[in-house]
Amino acid sequence: MITDKKISSTTKPATSFGNVDTPNHVTGKSVYVDDIPGMEGMLFLKIFDATIAHGKIKSIDYTEAAQEEGVVKIFSYKDVPGENQIGGIIPDEPLLADTEVHFMGQPILIVAAENEDAAEEALKKIKIEYEPLPVITNPREAFAKGKLLSPSRKFVLGNSEEAFKQCKYIFEGITESNGQEHLYLETQGAYAVPTEHNSVKVYSSTQGPTAVQRTTARVLGVGMNQVEVDVTRLGGGFGGKEDQASTWAAMAAMVAWIMKRPAKCVLHRMEDMRMTGKRNPYSSDFKIGLDAHYNILAYEATFHQNGGAAADLSPAILERTLFHCTNSYFIPNVTATAHSCKTNLPPNTAFRGFGGPQGMFVIEAAIDYAAKQLGIEAAIIQRKNLVKDGSEFPYGQIVENSEAAKCWDEVTAKYDIKKLRAEIDAFNRQNKFFKKGLSLMPVCFGISFTNTMMNNARALVHVYSDGSVGVSTGAVEMGQGVNSKMIQVAARALGIHVDKIKLESTNTSRVANTSPSAASATADLNGKAVLDACIQINERLHAFIKTLSGNKNDKVEIKDEIVYINNQPSEYNWKQIIQQAFFKRINLSAKGHYATPVIHYDKIKEKGHPFAYHVYGTAITIVTVDCLRGTYELDAVHVVHDAGLSINPSVDLGQCEGGIVQGIGWMTMEEVVYNENGKLLSNALSTYKIPDIYSVPKQLDVQFLETNNDNLAVLKSKAVGEPPLMYGIGAYFAVRNAVLTFNPTSSITYNAPITPEKVLMGLYSKS
Ligand code: MTE
Ligand code: HPA
Ligand code: MOS
Repeated sequence: MITDKKISSTTKPATSFGNVDTPNHVTGKSVYVDDIPGMEGMLFLKIFDATIAHGKIKSIDYTEAAQEEGVVKIFSYKDVPGENQIGGIIPDEPLLADTEVHFMGQPILIVAAENEDAAEEALKKIKIEYEPLPVITNPREAFAKGKLLSPSRKFVLGNSEEAFKQCKYIFEGITESNGQEHLYLETQGAYAVPTEHNSVKVYSSTQGPTAVQRTTARVLGVGMNQVEVDVTRLGGGFGGKEDQASTWAAMAAMVAWIMKRPAKCVLHRMEDMRMTGKRNPYSSDFKIGLDAHYNILAYEATFHQNGGAAADLSPAILERTLFHCTNSYFIPNVTATAHSCKTNLPPNTAFRGFGGPQGMFVIEAAIDYAAKQLGIEAAIIQRKNLVKDGSEFPYGQIVENSEAAKCWDEVTAKYDIKKLRAEIDAFNRQNKFFKKGLSLMPVCFGISFTNTMMNNARALVHVYSDGSVGVSTGAVEMGQGVNSKMIQVAARALGIHVDKIKLESTNTSRVANTSPSAASATADLNGKAVLDACIQINERLHAFIKTLSGNKNDKVEIKDEIVYINNQPSEYNWKQIIQQAFFKRINLSAKGHYATPVIHYDKIKEKGHPFAYHVYGTAITIVTVDCLRGTYELDAVHVVHDAGLSINPSVDLGQCEGGIVQGIGWMTMEEVVYNENGKLLSNALSTYKIPDIYSVPKQLDVQFLETNNDNLAVLKSKAVGEPPLMYGIGAYFAVRNAVLTFNPTSSITYNAPITPEKVLMGLYSKS
């Protein structure tokens, strides 16, 4: 029965697979929430939101608005059938404001109408009177007044106070980092359809289908089993749809459930910008101490996080700021304190890096400041203090398989840092009004949800009787390519071609109790669950094949859709074996489960082993500043990035490039501006500048440091979603360095983003 049949030559190497969504994206066939064809009787929802940032609602009158032609009903907090509560971590956020408003843009009423125009018209006829209360927009002011969203946290390693006494050099300073608008191409939205048994099905643009399900069930006062959430894909999330997608989904579901009609709530861009939270701004203090050899002996930092008006995810983000407060460096004595401050801004939320970038900016500023005072390159301090195997992070985890120095040394060697510096110096000597700046930015990012219990996932794999395969997981595709990776994992595990596999929508009825697609851990967690399911199916198939071969001791394997017995190709292929197994009533479906082993964390002691592993890398950034105009260009970003054994290099490269440009945007041009009344001034694309094609560095090279260490990444392919964003911090310091080359006595502070306006002022200021 053993034949010498050749291995199929159509097998595509996994690495050339690319992104399964690309053809549909570029031909406009990809489906987003607003593309789902509306059913007969669908209601359109519009939100009436607060026009002041803090105050009591004295009166509200919507009788006239309700009579507008086409308006079906206007809903207030009194119409919420269950709990008027959407807070994920802390129950401090009403779905609809009741007697007070806490931020401008806070939803108060929902208008449901036969069409969008009627709903818009009704909004204009709603009358509201407020009694204004004091508005706080600054986190330090909130902190001084004791307004905190959650208890403050403190990470301690060694004894910084004692260690400062041993330091030769001590420097102190203040930093500010601003928010960042997610600007996902697809705005927030949901479409809900009432279903049998008093239930509802919600199509939501969410990273967290289970969060939407849980919140909706709470708002409706029904069981989670009465809410089915389905997600095809998102036109971007970037953290902004981890928790904040639940609001619109709960609204659409509530209207659909009460009215027994389909209902759609999709925000327009300016509504989205005004009503949703952004990356948390931080105002921070640092104190850094070094010995005579530039070893960092002690570091103290205090972070004031601007949380906005409700906790949302800010307490978890605060925690990650502390986890990453020493970035890639080993510092033996650390005291880091973080406060989540309550202000009258829309609740700020997850954004790529989840507080990590904010923490890293502060240590980088501290090192930069120390270097400037000492008259040396920051790179000297940076390189010297990189983590090594055996070093301890402030949270107690011991460094294993550190790639920090390897990435640094490889990028500085490959791009000949000495030569780059010499060229820049020569350029700067020759040009009076153009100055170049260079920086190095190492990154070390922990992979796992910092909340240990969230690190689990499930997958459902069906092999159909024709040999085609359907895979459902808890992973949400938001452009990061996770669906492609899931297909590749299943293809490898089952030994079949990627085109046999379809990735289904993410659906709470197929895969339950999911963690959001976040923390860069989606491919790891869901991929391992897919592996588990496929292994179960393989075991059944292998046992069945042995009944055919008649020898229990045969070694069975399926590769390239051919069944191998004792390493020899057999007469069976995948399709035949599946058909025969089906006729023999073998179970061709499996549910996989994965929970990350090893990790744990004790929040009382603030010690543990919270991360499955760390991702490392280093970026060199070179910029040219026009010293008459204050404008700048990014000449180059060269990166060596620790990707492990990438299963999809083109997707991972895309994540690096996108993340870097998004990080550069945060650090150099995107300026979220609220006035003292809490009104968002940067409320449209005309007033909020995000990177465009011209902002992309002229050279953007990412080289993967291919490592083959045992780790907890799926098929050793390390998480890549968030870490590259933090290379963008390098752009801040490169621009700053150029400014200081032009004007060594500039009074420029550590205040990001370093916009052209700030550059211009920095170029001509004196300290
Ligand atoms: N890439 C695209 N194209 N769109 C996104 O919304 N989100 C980022 C990152 N890359 C995002 C993205 C964020 S915030 C995270 S946490 C990860 O993708 C989530 O996906 P992963 O866990 O599969 O990396
Ligand atoms: N990262 C991203 N999202 C999260 C996390 C995290 O660590 N914890 C809860 N949500
Ligand atoms: Mo990403 S900020 O963890 O969604």
